Amino acid sequence: MIHDPEKLRDRAASALLAARTRTQALTTCVDEPDLTAQHSPLMSPLVWDLAHIGNQEEQWLMRAVGGLEALRPEIDSVYDAFEHPRAERPSLPLLAPTEAHSYVDEVRGRVLDVLEKTPLRGDRLVEQAFAFGMVAQHEQQHDETMLITHQLRRGPAALTAPPPPDTAEGVVGPEVLVPSGHFTMGTSREPWALDNERPAHHRLLPAFRIDTTPVSNAAYLWFIEDGGYRESRWWAPEGWRMVCENKLEAPLFWRREGSGWVRRSFGVTEPIAPEEPVLHVSWYEADAYARWAGRRLPSEAEWEKAARWDPHTGYSRRYPWGDEDPGPEHANLGQRHLRPAPVGSYPEGESPLGVRQLIGDVWEWTSGDFLPYPGFQAFPYREYSEVFFGDAYKVLRGGSFAVDPVACRGTFRNWDLPVRRQIFAGFRTARDAGPEDA
Ligand SMILES: [Fe+2]
Repeated sequence: MIHDPEKLRDRAASALLAARTRTQALTTCVDEPDLTAQHSPLMSPLVWDLAHIGNQEEQWLMRAVGGLEALRPEIDSVYDAFEHPRAERPSLPLLAPTEAHSYVDEVRGRVLDVLEKTPLRGDRLVEQAFAFGMVAQHEQQHDETMLITHQLRRGPAALTAPPPPDTAEGVVGPEVLVPSGHFTMGTSREPWALDNERPAHHRLLPAFRIDTTPVSNAAYLWFIEDGGYRESRWWAPEGWRMVCENKLEAPLFWRREGSGWVRRSFGVTEPIAPEEPVLHVSWYEADAYARWAGRRLPSEAEWEKAARWDPHTGYSRRYPWGDEDPGPEHANLGQRHLRPAPVGSYPEGESPLGVRQLIGDVWEWTSGDFLPYPGFQAFPYREYSEVFFGDAYKVLRGGSFAVDPVACRGTFRNWDLPVRRQIFAGFRTARDAGPEDA
């Protein structure tokens, strides 16, 4: 919690600025035809994301918080994600790239004015600058979406970044025991936490064991080479159907070359790095691998307990390493790198029980459906999370290299369909504690 309103304004302004710097980078590194093209029916044209970012900012910060008159009310429906599925978006009367850029700039100018003038108290929407934090997170989430579009785009590389540091050393072992007992899941204190992360509540879990690192490409290759994609017994029925219908035999973007495998990563074809966490697998693939390995996916509560619970104090931390905001020494976040770091990296980001890379690198599929916590209240709008609750979506935790720290916490929840493979998702496995743990 920040009590000084000036500090709060600074924090909000720098979160908005960081998001915009990234948006600019993602939308100026390719030319106009690339911005307006649809690179995959799963994704919007980049120029749709760009103006949608500005339109949400206009609706929430200019209109709802600032009480200002609408700048471009006629485009609200074009950029309404619920009105138009992604496949339909290229056929809409979209703002042209230069127009979209000047629209988002114009909105931002007015919003910075609103931020100066708004007393950041008295109303839940502005308390602790929540709405500004929410809009900065929204923009960063679309930046991640645009990065996925860049990954799907054909053609030469448009983005570059240095590789992440390899600091894989001193891992305590392949898995750790998380003892049975209560822990606090979710949050009621984190000022910019979204509605689905709230409220904090107690969970009682039996003892379990969880991998200290995400599953590597090397481990996943054993599954492939062992005929994992050819045997229905490892797969949930829907997953097996997906494998057969699409003739799947490896993660998305992988291709056999000679006796090995290569993959396409942001326009570059390269050999599979065995030490990196596996990336671009669906929930069904993660689930099948875990079954083949004689294990299972962790539940969402198990994941969060492994990430946040401190056995010395009994409290849940904000992050695995403690309460301080993520730094480059803790986790691979914020698109500083365009790939996950080798498994076992980031010793300084380790949880008290010795689990690594829970935050950053790859989103991690959990076994669970996306459901509300007890006492959930939709805020500030039902469409943020409530309309997605149910058994259609699986929960992902921890963020990836493509997630900005502002949109990543120990409590942050992401969700997607179990067939999705283009997202930056991997997984780790778990199992029930055995008699040797009693
Ligand atoms: Fe959006």
